[in-house]
Amino acid sequence: MKIEEVLECLQQWVEENHSHTMLGETAKYIPALAEQDKNQLGICIMDFDGDTYKAGDTEVTFTLQSISKIISFIALCHFKGLDFVLDKVDVEPTGESFNSIIPFEIHRPGKPFNPLINAGAITVSSMLPGDTVDEKYERFIAFVEGMIGHRLHLDEDVYQSEWKTAHRNRALAYYLKESNLLDLDVEEALDIYIRQCSICIGLEDLAKIGLVIAHDGYDPITERQIFSNDVARIAKVLMVTCGMYNSSGKFAAHVGIPAKSGVSGGIIAAVPPKWHSDEKAFRKGCGIAVFGPAIDANGNSTAGTMLLRQISTEWDFSIF
Ligand code: DON
Repeated sequence: MKIEEVLECLQQWVEENHSHTMLGETAKYIPALAEQDKNQLGICIMDFDGDTYKAGDTEVTFTLQSISKIISFIALCHFKGLDFVLDKVDVEPTGESFNSIIPFEIHRPGKPFNPLINAGAITVSSMLPGDTVDEKYERFIAFVEGMIGHRLHLDEDVYQSEWKTAHRNRALAYYLKESNLLDLDVEEALDIYIRQCSICIGLEDLAKIGLVIAHDGYDPITERQIFSNDVARIAKVLMVTCGMYNSSGKFAAHVGIPAKSGVSGGIIAAVPPKWHSDEKAFRKGCGIAVFGPAIDANGNSTAGTMLLRQISTEWDFSIF
């Protein structure tokens, strides 16, 4: 497909899916996120050569929130090995909301079900290399820098807002501490977790991370293997089975791309190469970033999900 045709399609599909922003609300439980403009919808696709295709609200920045969980999982596996990580956190969907306490109560004692629910993500963040929260955060942000080529920064307002209202996450962290799953103090574990959630990112950078995941940890632009094939494979399994929480089944059925959402309204998606039909776009794979801060009850962008559904259907992106 020609560049103009790709851009025309994206433009049209953003317009067609825009009304889905009406079906969601901004995340209300984190005051700084509640203030986001729920009418926004933007997308960026980065192809194998690093060229980008954008439509809608493309200059937005937003906080990573739960999208950071797949990155911290990858980073920890890269630094400490898959076996070490999978010994502490499982790879099973929960069927409960991302911040539920129920799995702890029902399956005591036990490790968190997966690294994409809050309990699993707090556990993962707490194990990042480094003796202090500052050192752990530095390793995380440097790992991200290795993928996008420059340093991201914390959104201090979101961080403060989340820190002050993290009552449920604090409760989860106390459960983890009781189960001997946290080496850090509760407040330190929460601090590193909330810092990574509060990192501010734009669509192009997020699409780049998606591109690297889609290519099994290989960055086709700088031609470097950033993390191993094995780590990328498990990351993609987690994205498919747990990345969209309790909509993961429907998302796999109707979109079929490894993806991870965040309550700020961002979604990262990793489209692996698909060689067998070359009349469609992006056969060498791509990374996709979508932003639409109106989210549904499961915490996924309403318009972002529908936009991805249309793109995947039209261009046959499903891995299934
Ligand atoms: O811990 C929280 O609740 C938020 N920092 C992140 C939750 C989130 O993004 C869930 N995703 N849809």
